[in-house]
Amino acid sequence: MCGIVGYVGDGDATRVLLSGLNQLEYRGYDSAGIAVSDGEDEICGDGEDEVCGDGGVDANGGVSSDGAGIDVRKRAGELENLEAAIESGAPTGSVGIGHTRWSTHGPPTDRNAHPHAGETGAVAVVHNGIIENYRALKEALVDAGRTFESDTDTEVVPHLIEQALADGADPETAFRRAVSQLEGSYAIVAVFEGVDALFAARNDSPLVLGVGDDGYHVASDVPAFLEFTERVVYLEDGETVVVRGDGATVRNGDGDVVEKAVTTVDWDVEDTGKSGYDHYMLKEIHEQPTALRQCLSGRVNELDGTVELPEVDGVPAPSTVHLVACGTSYHAALVGAARFREAGTPAQAFLASEYAVRTPPVGDALVIGVTQSGETADTLAALRAARSRGARTLAVTNVVGSSAARECDDAVYIRAGPEIGVAATKTFTSQVVSLSLLVERLAGSATGSEASRERLAALRDLPGLVQQVLDESAAAAVAEAYVGRDGYFFIGRGPNHPVALEGALKFKEITYEHAEGFAAGELKHGTLALVTERTPVIAVVTGDDAAARKTVSNVKEVEARGAPVIAVTDGRAGVAEYADHTLALPDAHPSVLPLLANTQLQLVAYHVANRLGRSIDKPRNLAKSVTVE
Ligand code: F6R
Repeated sequence: MCGIVGYVGDGDATRVLLSGLNQLEYRGYDSAGIAVSDGEDEICGDGEDEVCGDGGVDANGGVSSDGAGIDVRKRAGELENLEAAIESGAPTGSVGIGHTRWSTHGPPTDRNAHPHAGETGAVAVVHNGIIENYRALKEALVDAGRTFESDTDTEVVPHLIEQALADGADPETAFRRAVSQLEGSYAIVAVFEGVDALFAARNDSPLVLGVGDDGYHVASDVPAFLEFTERVVYLEDGETVVVRGDGATVRNGDGDVVEKAVTTVDWDVEDTGKSGYDHYMLKEIHEQPTALRQCLSGRVNELDGTVELPEVDGVPAPSTVHLVACGTSYHAALVGAARFREAGTPAQAFLASEYAVRTPPVGDALVIGVTQSGETADTLAALRAARSRGARTLAVTNVVGSSAARECDDAVYIRAGPEIGVAATKTFTSQVVSLSLLVERLAGSATGSEASRERLAALRDLPGLVQQVLDESAAAAVAEAYVGRDGYFFIGRGPNHPVALEGALKFKEITYEHAEGFAAGELKHGTLALVTERTPVIAVVTGDDAAARKTVSNVKEVEARGAPVIAVTDGRAGVAEYADHTLALPDAHPSVLPLLANTQLQLVAYHVANRLGRSIDKPRNLAKSVTVE
């Protein structure tokens, strides 16, 4: 998805912007650009190194263009295309904006890349989100004699700003007047010719400020400026901000100045680097033991079998639970729903995109949005649909201050740390564990029992067991043996069904090979027709109960059709006898075995994709944070 960076200060804006764009690459993009201005004219800062206060622009809005111009460079394709375009002469200046675009209006071309300038060169703009009324605005602007260069919805913004400037407005007024005409979702940052400030607004699309020692940053995502500062200010929907090198003035929709708190994030640059791994995804798979320890830290009291989650102290035990989520998070939600049901609380997982348009009766259900980014448009829409029907909402998310966290009544953080690889790995594991803790805490019958103590002890042991799987996994050899087949089927029954779905999703998204996940009993109801000796079947079989034994029967069915079988198993059901390869799981409590199996499947997907030379951290067509419905 699109990424925004902006900088104003004493540093070299081009260098800061390119560094930020590099950090934002993981969001997925198809073009990139920057706009840098000399910004020679001061606008009245109060000189205090704090966000807010009564700074603001001077009576004339500080506009007194020196004609230095705004240097806009943009290119379709990878960031290296943009870097090549500025090699022979980088824009110089102390204020600028940058953008990585993921097309929504018009194809990925140089022309459609951001930033967009209007006609006079007095302003340039970057934008994330979708301006829903852009056609009407564009028509009016064209009728007024304005000429458009691109196919984007974004381009209406610089034209609206220029129109207001032409009417005599100062930059802040012109910016606010333009923004007030927009409908839809947006994070927008503008730079003006000759003005030493950035102007930004957010509505339904994330935007944060970074408070640095030698300047201020604006970005769609904290990692964009982590190299420069860990001090962050989260903007709310409807707010606009004038950002100077030494301060910022935030205003609400009515134009009143809003005091904002500065938060220090505990992520460091090292956290967003690869730390010696070939890919972020592999690093993040290996970070799971640490992420799980962080997730559990201070939350579990094994002795009395209770969970401490002060975040939900005000949440009564729910009579019913709806979980809404997308993709991998939906698979975590399936696990969470099953756990609630096992604890006696009726619960169901819903695909958020469906829930948003066909919202079931919510009654007094607790509606839990499971979203690592906290910005997924479908999940936010589902949560809003639930809220509008009076439901209490709870976000289970990785991103503090994300839209989901702020919009829901309550939020539980999964504490997985930043996840850069587009394919979710450690966040899935931490989501499942966080949901398990929620069940123990909220589902009345779960708390304090012997069974609860056993499950909590299993969670305590989980980081070490995941480490054991990582250390001993034969996934690389399995990947080597089965790379390049016609298709891959993943099967699992009961608690292993979501694992089969997640294993297939991970596999297809990074290998680009066809893969499908099934409830083990379902394969024979049609898909068995596709099973041949060229379609490996990956079967997750744990324990030795009736479900496990039935899955062994399903394995025999595919084996009889000549399909190679890879068993992911703790060995208790004897499935290895019918398998060509085994990915072994350590002896563990049944509640954590599915997560151990999932670790094996993450590694299989990674090694096959690596063997095929795929773009593992940024798979084609995919984005880390999907902020359109
Ligand atoms: C797959 C993946 C996606 C996300 C989905 C929801 O590896 O990452 O399927 O799980 O887009 O994203 P969040 O959790 O941010 O709401």
